[in-house]
Amino acid sequence: MKGLFISLEGPDGCGKSTQIAFMKSSLESRGYDVIVTREPGGTVISEQIRQVILDKNNMAMQDTTELLLYAAARAQLVGEVIKPAVEAGKVVICDRFVDSSAVYQGIARGLGVDTVYEVNAYALQNMMPDITFFLDMPAAEGIRRKNNQHDLDRMELQKAAFHEKVVEGYRQLAQTQKERIVTIDAMKSIEEIRIEIEERLIPLLKQPK
Ligand code: TYD
Repeated sequence: MKGLFISLEGPDGCGKSTQIAFMKSSLESRGYDVIVTREPGGTVISEQIRQVILDKNNMAMQDTTELLLYAAARAQLVGEVIKPAVEAGKVVICDRFVDSSAVYQGIARGLGVDTVYEVNAYALQNMMPDITFFLDMPAAEGIRRKNNQHDLDRMELQKAAFHEKVVEGYRQLAQTQKERIVTIDAMKSIEEIRIEIEERLIPLLKQPK
């Protein structure tokens, strides 16, 4: 039986990790086998690629290199973790997936959304999320929250205008794929967001194996 593939998206600092932890424990308490993973990363090889991508010393990185590195990290994660887990009937929750590339590289970097999906077709092996939650938060608020937590990485250090484009990009993308991408107002309280996500998720669940 095919499992369920869920992704979370949003600007840096929008609170995905907190909600992922809630989703995991809620699904596990209902008897589902849940795998939580993240992009870029989630496998030994993808985590190594992540270090190259986010290294503050790599400011000279070409946009196309960036796009291909994210796609390479994704190819490994899909093949090693996501596809086998979903095919085994598990629930996979992924912190970011190909929509991050559509928005950050396609829209904010300007490489084009279609180009991004085309390049990523190699990496995806037809795996697309069944549902995607977009946590919509003003860019400045997300960066402020991140800045309180740790030193900013290469992507977080991009100029404010870049992060504005990311948020705008997500809003555009969510409009064009309404059947899959659910927009959640991430300025609401953690508890309100948790309930909204759960209400959308429960109807998609099949009986646990
Ligand atoms: P991460 O620390 O995981 O950020 P967050 O906690 O906000 O999810 O770093 C991932 C960064 O990489 C983040 O700035 C978004 C960016 N990114 C892309 O630009 N393209 C992609 O395809 C992915 C997956 C992430």
